Amino acid sequence: MSKSSLQKERAPGDRRKSLYFASRYQCDTYLDEDSLRALMARDVLRGLTSFPRFLPPRYFYDDAGVELFDQITRLPEYYLTRAECSILHALAPVLIKNVAPVDIVELGAGGTTKIRYLLDAFKPSGREIRYIPIDISARALEQSALELLDDYPWLTVHAIVGDFERELVRVPPPRGRRLAVFFGSTLGNLEAENRIRLLLELRNLIGPDGQLLIGLDLVKDSRILEKAYNDSAHVTAAFNRNILLAVNRMLKANFEPEAFDHLAFYNPEYTRVEMHLVSRCEQTVRVRAIELTVHFAPGDRIWTENCYKFTRRSVLEMFQAASMRLCGWFEDSAGQFALALAKVAT
Ligand code: AVI
Repeated sequence: MSKSSLQKERAPGDRRKSLYFASRYQCDTYLDEDSLRALMARDVLRGLTSFPRFLPPRYFYDDAGVELFDQITRLPEYYLTRAECSILHALAPVLIKNVAPVDIVELGAGGTTKIRYLLDAFKPSGREIRYIPIDISARALEQSALELLDDYPWLTVHAIVGDFERELVRVPPPRGRRLAVFFGSTLGNLEAENRIRLLLELRNLIGPDGQLLIGLDLVKDSRILEKAYNDSAHVTAAFNRNILLAVNRMLKANFEPEAFDHLAFYNPEYTRVEMHLVSRCEQTVRVRAIELTVHFAPGDRIWTENCYKFTRRSVLEMFQAASMRLCGWFEDSAGQFALALAKVAT
């Protein structure tokens, strides 16, 4: 585990502010550049030698990918973020009043927009609230912590740099009632068995008196779904191709992203949007760090992401399989997106 730059000493002018923040900020790093590279080497070797070929979507999110995803959330076609924020805006005051959490754990935190709806709903009480974000981007975590500590003087932040599928066990013991939040329908990027495994871990994390709030995109007209993943500004296409640039940089590969087409479509049988990269031509790619050579014929694909879509019934069943109970269901006015609130089943 290593220290973040906020915990280290900075320039003299920043010192007082830095000390003030450092007393309210802790960052534990379990995933540095080298361990991420080792993990990627293993995943890329497996993914590019499998049939169908695949690359795990966690590798979208290097600095460029985080920036591209941020742009996606503001696209007119990508309704998910706006819909979720509209529900959060209405729900936050009641939720915070009823749950009255002392610890808020956020998976895949990224930016601060959504957590602010919850933090803004706290009435000043003199009580310290601890925010525990988990994300693979150390930079994004530190940036968010700085902004939040500035704006909420009663907040402490204990950030965890790591993959939420592996590092939930590192979350420090609770100080009181816990609320875990997982926004953006990111749970929908996991396969069913991994979703249940994660929910079982979250069940332990929140304990008998805690609650879990999850944002989930809903099954809907396939035209709306396909537009959301095929935006007219081609930002999603750039985001999809960016995974190849991440492999180039981390594993010394020579992918030419423009030699692959972006493909995204709704698969109703599995209620998911699938994203692929399709080779435009005959080509050979070398991944030097793992001594791998891959041949692509025109039309050969790399499967990069599944984005599962849900119904109230499928969510009920999913929680049941993880020994949890759905205790609240909140949709936006167009019924496109839902926030599901769950507890440990007794
Ligand atoms: C992060 N995740 C929920 C996004 C989604 O919609 O599944 C990732 C994404 N992929 C393409 N556009 C957005």
